[in-house]
Amino acid sequence: MIQAPKGTFDVLPADAERRSVLESHAARILGAAGYGRIETPTFEATELFARGVGEATDIVQKEMYTFDDGGGRSLTLRPEGTAPVCRAYMEHGMHKLAQPVKLWYLSSFFRAEAPQRGRYRQFWQIGAEVIGSASPESDAELILLLADVLEAAGAREPRLLISSLGTPATRAEYREELTAFLKAHADELSPEVVQRIDLNPLRAFDAKDPATQRTMREAPKLLDRLSPEDAEHFQRVREMLDDADLSYELEPTLVRGLDYYTRTVYEFTSEALGAAQSTIGGGGRYDGLIEALGGPSTPASGWAAGVERILLASPEPPAVASPVDLFVAIAAPDPTAARTAFNLVSEARRAGLSAQLELAGRSLKGQLKQADRVGARYVALVGDGSPVAFKQMDTGEQTDLDRDAVIPTILRGSRL
Ligand code: HAM
Repeated sequence: MIQAPKGTFDVLPADAERRSVLESHAARILGAAGYGRIETPTFEATELFARGVGEATDIVQKEMYTFDDGGGRSLTLRPEGTAPVCRAYMEHGMHKLAQPVKLWYLSSFFRAEAPQRGRYRQFWQIGAEVIGSASPESDAELILLLADVLEAAGAREPRLLISSLGTPATRAEYREELTAFLKAHADELSPEVVQRIDLNPLRAFDAKDPATQRTMREAPKLLDRLSPEDAEHFQRVREMLDDADLSYELEPTLVRGLDYYTRTVYEFTSEALGAAQSTIGGGGRYDGLIEALGGPSTPASGWAAGVERILLASPEPPAVASPVDLFVAIAAPDPTAARTAFNLVSEARRAGLSAQLELAGRSLKGQLKQADRVGARYVALVGDGSPVAFKQMDTGEQTDLDRDAVIPTILRGSRL
């Protein structure tokens, strides 16, 4: 039997329902805050991610599904949404609109990661981006909106970790200082970290190796090296979160897996996801990205949260079977009865009722059982002519009704 590829999953109807509830929360919360929905293509020029996400990142180095389009062009299944949204912003001249431009998306993304609970090779993200504003207010607004989406979804005890990465200039200086520190302490670090000192020294803070972690506690922290402007920006974001009563923890060594961040960065985590894979969503400011992609210098900020991880972090809601108003059963395998039944179901649906028709050729007893299983309120048993036997399932009352009286009776909600 052919199976779905490793790290992918099917969304079956029960899951689909939870996902669409989440989608409607996101649409309501982000729509009310002035964010317009955007959908970009599933694949893009590989260069967009190489330049946008960063050559040195795990995503670009190891996790992209890249292929040749047959005409010598390299394409990649999108591993994230920020670079594509920035590409679309430039391509459609959105800088000419009133700024900032606020966008949100719910799309699927692809990363060739080792699959585990909460980590897949195709996954969905809800994301929001504000392009064209440098204000700390836009960072705080975004963080509060993500908190609202998680709360509406019922995510259990999300923890907010925030930090600031400063500007590229501050980071470059800090990077030199950190590199020197790492080289001076190379004998205390794991070989993996040592190997990556020049490529990405910040990742050393992310190491799982206990000896490395011990050493990194003594390492210089970027938060202590911020320029006065960056420190002021960060202070204002924190004040707004305080004013909104949103609690957070300062995490000076917060490392994001993408290279485009400047200033504010944050992640929401939940214990409900397990220790190894606890991040529900994250984001930050990326003031240099549009310029890196060949556009004019444009400040921007945003986040993305994994749909599967939000759902894993949220308790299952009690299953609410969608109500079925009418189940139409067929008294005898007779073409006239089948046709009457079919027409009755169609008319009921047109009248706005939720109606189901017997489709499996069950016995009469089997049909009643099926009506019960789907939670039907009424059953109409159709023979080869009018009237039909009409049964109210909760009381078991039954009466004969003219075929044309079935729908009005249900619509009136009259009891038998
Ligand atoms: P990210 O941290 O790479 O950021 O991903 C955001 C979220 O997507 C993660 O916190 C996680 O919930 C989910 N996610 C990532 N990889 C997987 C996976 N393999 N399986 C399941 N879920 C996953 C970004 O993608 C940035 N574009 C966020 C952003 C937007 N920054 C600024 N604007």
